[in-house]
Formats: sequence, C-alpha cells, structure tokens
Amino acid sequence: MKTYLVTGGAGFIGSNFVLYMLRKHDDIRIVNVDALTYAGNLENLASIEGDDRHVFLHADIRDEKAMSDALATYQPDYVINFAAESHVDRSIADPGIFADTNVMGTVNLLNCCRAAWDDGKGGFGDHRYLQVGTDEVYGTLAIPEKINPDGSPADPEHTDYFRETTPLNPHSPYSASKTSADLFVKAYHDTYGFPAVITRCSNNYGPFQFPEKLIPLMIHNALNHRELPVYGDGLNVRDWLYVDDHCKAIDMVATGGRLGEVYNVGGHNERANIYIVKTIIAEVAKVTGDEAVNEGLIRHVTDRAGHDRRYGMAPDKIREELGWYPETPYEEGIVKTIRWYLDNPEWVDHVTSGSYQEYYARMYDGR
Ligand code: NAD
Ligand code: DAU
Repeated sequence: MKTYLVTGGAGFIGSNFVLYMLRKHDDIRIVNVDALTYAGNLENLASIEGDDRHVFLHADIRDEKAMSDALATYQPDYVINFAAESHVDRSIADPGIFADTNVMGTVNLLNCCRAAWDDGKGGFGDHRYLQVGTDEVYGTLAIPEKINPDGSPADPEHTDYFRETTPLNPHSPYSASKTSADLFVKAYHDTYGFPAVITRCSNNYGPFQFPEKLIPLMIHNALNHRELPVYGDGLNVRDWLYVDDHCKAIDMVATGGRLGEVYNVGGHNERANIYIVKTIIAEVAKVTGDEAVNEGLIRHVTDRAGHDRRYGMAPDKIREELGWYPETPYEEGIVKTIRWYLDNPEWVDHVTSGSYQEYYARMYDGR
C-alpha cells in the first residue's frame, strides 16, 4: 500500500485530488496536511469522513518540526505539494504571505523530505516529490486578433502556446512566488539529485472552488442578482481545465513522470473572460428560470494591475509520455459546476459568510 502526503488537501484542487484518489485507488493511504487558512475547508472532505485511508493533520508547511514529524510518522512514498496562497488579487494587495508560504514553505518541505528520505548513500530510495505549479510562471501570450463566437482565439495562424521550454516571466507577486518555488524544486533536483517532478497547470474550475476566483464568484453573484465585475475589457483569455482532469494528470505524473522534468497540463479550452461570464449567465438563467439573471448584471470594472492577457498551454509532452489528455470540454464542465453550486447552498453559505464579505468589499467596492 502506497502512502501519499498531500499538502493543501483542504483547499479547492487539493480536496478534489484527495477525493479523486480515494475513488480511483483502493490500496492507498492519504495523509492530508493543511494549515486551514481562509481557503482551507474541511467540509470539502465531508464525504470521506470515517474513511480510514484518509488522515488529516492540521499543520503548516513552514513548520519544520511538524513536517519532519509527519514524514517520520507516516513514511510517505509520495509528497504532493498543493499548499499555497493561490489568489492573484490577494497577492497584489499583500505580497509578503505569498513569499512566506509559497517560497519558504516549499523550501522547508524540500528540506524536511530531503532529510527524511536520504538513504545515507547519496540516494532517496523510491520516494518522489511533486510540486503543483501553474502556467502563470510563463507570463503572458499575446491576445489573438479575433475571438470565435465560443470565446476561443480565432486567428488562423494562432500557434503560440506555453511549452515547458518557454522562458519563465512571471508578472504578479503570486506568479513570482510560484516561479521561485519551482526553481527551488529544480535546484534541489539538480544539486542533490532530489527526486522531484513539477506540473504546471492552467486555470481549474469545478466543485469546492472558493468564490474569490472568476467562475464561482460569477455563479454566486448571478444567483444573488449581484453585479458581475469583469476586469477591463473582458477579453483576457484563460485556458480552462475541469479539476478532475488536473487530478488525473497529477496522479499520472506522480508515479510515471520523469524526475527533474516539468509537465504542462492544460485543456486547449481557451476562452475570453466575457464569454465565460455570458455562458454562466445563460446557464444559471436556464437552470433556475430566473429572468433577473441576465447580461444587464455585467459591469466592467477597473482592470487588475499587471493583468496577463492570455494563457494557453501546449500539453503535448504529458500526452506523448503518459497518455494524459483533457477529457472534459468546457461546455460540459461548466454545466456540472453550476449544478454543483446550486445543489450545495450550505457549503456556499458557510464560505461566503463572515470574512468573505469584508474581502469582497475591500476588493470590489468603488472599483
Ligand atoms: P486554494 O487556495 O483553494 O487552497 C490552498 C490550500 O492550501 C488551502 O487548503 C490552505 O488552507 C492551504 N494552505 C495555505 N497555506 C498553507 C500552509 N502554510 N501550510 C499548509 N497548508 C496551507 O488553492 P487551489 O486553487 O486549490 O490551488 C492549489 C495549488 O495548485 C496551488 O499551489 C496553486 O498555486 C496551484 N494551481 C492552482 C490553479 C487553479 O486554477 N486554482 C491552477 C494551477 C495551479
Ligand atoms: O492559470 C492558473 C492560475 O489560475 C492559478 O495558478 C491561480 O492559482 C488561479 O487563481 C488562477 O489565476 P487567475 O488570475 O487566472 O484566476 P482568477 O479566477 O482570479 O481570474 C481569471 C480571469 O478572470 C482573470 O483574467 C481575471 C478575471 N476576473 C477575475 C475575477 C476574480 C474578472 O474579470 N473578475 C473577477 O472578479
């Protein structure tokens, strides 16, 4: 039986990964380490309560003793590092915590794994470390001249994508911190032979995503007849991936990826933000039959500072080496996601009460 130590497993992607892995594999154990920041929520894991293949540890990846103890106690075969501060707008408002958690937390985890896994002969046995990274480290691609009716880029010569060889060029404090973390992981591999692999994924969406991110925020606001705040002209493009497709990629790279390598994960599901918002309006209106949910709710607001224009991934390497491909078209994934938010009003109520209201006012009032 293999043991996975997953950090950030009470957050959006981490909790989906824990649930995905326990659905797919009978013979594993998951040790879930999470500091339970505003983004961590044990309600995401309610469906596996009582499943003794899952152990939750309330701990911080920056805490050397806690991480060393966890590694010694549970002897994981794999460590998957999801834990991070993940929201770009928060990083613009308060960059320091992004350096602390995303950079120093990763370095601490690497040090603890290195010490725990050292076999005394310059090796690390069969252990493997996977760093969950982002396409934002590559910076931005140019916006296409034309957009198709489905919101995707329309230029016939449109061939520029992020590849694993694309130079790193982060713009926001969030992406700078994630780039720095990736470079530490690479340095530990190159210097110490540390058994690490890095994935870099595009924008995820799906159940349990905190409504500070575009898709859940727009669903939540539409359901409550609140304005839908579109930054700038709404023509920034993101490459959307349904979260389970990302979980599958991480599962495959953790066990089958080549050490020291980077794997881009993305959906070829590029859509302009304004298109995303309009599809959410249309689908919410259809499902609820509520005529007050219409495009009159859209409000263009001040753009995000340093706003990357377009992300678009070429996931060729992971497809060629491991056979992974994105299985969920955006049009299918968005319907599943909206239905999940409609079917889980208690979850939404809990995460949007209290400090969420203060956050929302700070970010959006007067914007
Ligand atoms: P999230 O903000 O929803 O969850 C982050 C989790 O990490 C939370 O549970 C939080 O409590 C935990 N955490 C934060 N600081 C911690 C610390 N010091 N110690 C232990 N736990 C801590 O984030 P997410 O969207 O699920 O993203 C997960 C990872 O995937 C991040 O590394 C992010 O950079 C990366 N990523 C996200 C996306 C996306 O679209 N959301 C895309 C590509 C990569
Ligand atoms: O690309 C991967 C990244 O995707 C991850 O590494 C990050 O953790 C994740 O947060 C996400 O970053 P983005 O900045 O792309 O996601 P966000 O949902 O914040 O914004 C998506 C787009 O929508 C972006 O162009 C900004 C825009 N936007 C966002 C919000 C919250 C709006 O127009 N209005 C909004 O209110």
